[in-house]
Amino acid sequence: MTVKVPSPAEQEKLPAGAEILRAEGIRKSYDGHRVLSGIDLSLRKGETLVIMGRSGSGKTTCLRILMGQERPDEGSVHLFGRPVGRIPAKEMNALRRRFGVVFQSGALLNSLTVADNVALPLRELTKLDEKVIRIIVKMKLDQVGLLGFEHLMPAQLSGGMKQRVGIARALALDPELLFYDEPTSGLDPVMTAVITKLIRDISRLGVGSVVVTHDMKSALAVADRLVMLYMGEIVAEGTPDEIRATQDPLVRQFVDGRAEGPIPLQTARVDLLEDLLGGG
Ligand SMILES: Nc1ncnc2c1ncn2[C@@H]1O[C@H](COP(=O)(O)OP(=O)(O)OP(=O)(O)O)[C@@H](O)[C@H]1O
Ligand SMILES: [Mg+2]
Repeated sequence: MTVKVPSPAEQEKLPAGAEILRAEGIRKSYDGHRVLSGIDLSLRKGETLVIMGRSGSGKTTCLRILMGQERPDEGSVHLFGRPVGRIPAKEMNALRRRFGVVFQSGALLNSLTVADNVALPLRELTKLDEKVIRIIVKMKLDQVGLLGFEHLMPAQLSGGMKQRVGIARALALDPELLFYDEPTSGLDPVMTAVITKLIRDISRLGVGSVVVTHDMKSALAVADRLVMLYMGEIVAEGTPDEIRATQDPLVRQFVDGRAEGPIPLQTARVDLLEDLLGGG
């Protein structure tokens, strides 16, 4: 009889439903301008949380703080139960292997082939044999429907294909958690639907997902839970059904995509008249 001994990485993996992300009291300002003023969030393994909010509301900032790429001024983030920013760099690197990031429009390296882009995290963060890496790359490209495109350069891909390669790369290390920043922005409605379905399929594998988007249709289709960021705070939270049915005027305006409503058009940090009279 052979007993399968779990590798250290497998031992670490948390069961479905376990809390994998918790953020408490996150505050962040840039140059005295408050971007986040007390954000609390949590995510369970296998759950998809959508963060919605208009442009400039702090969604990317929030995501960068959750991933440990940026430090909050106040508050704490726990990833897989470990306090981000308060653990040694070596342990943080081990944590990084457990989550993937999908950036806007794929963020591929233009000088590398599709295969080399997907292989990047495997080469940087593991000591896997090249042969094994090639097999994993094929499996991940197959998962996003791009097997056979290994040798193309990013410039030869459409926006939707680039985004899918970006997802394949984020999946390379079999993450338990994926962060997506505007995964469907700039895509046509058909490709948006393809990416939306892919996000859902990946989540069904038990991966936790945090999806930042202002595409309401896609948001409602992927989310188990949605939060709306507005003026640095979470002003609404609910399931897709609750958000669809809400009477909250702020959320309604956003969900319905209307210009009129409580969300002001004015986003400038300074008053024009004051700026001109101040000689600036
Ligand atoms: N590194 C930085 N330095 C200074 N200001 C920043 C920095 N990063 C973000 N900001 C400011 O924080 C605010 C929120 O930016 P953020 O990119 O998080 O918004 P967003 O919701 O992701 O917007 P979008 O939907 O357009 O991507 C903006 O006013 C931005 O100018
Ligand atoms: Mg952003």
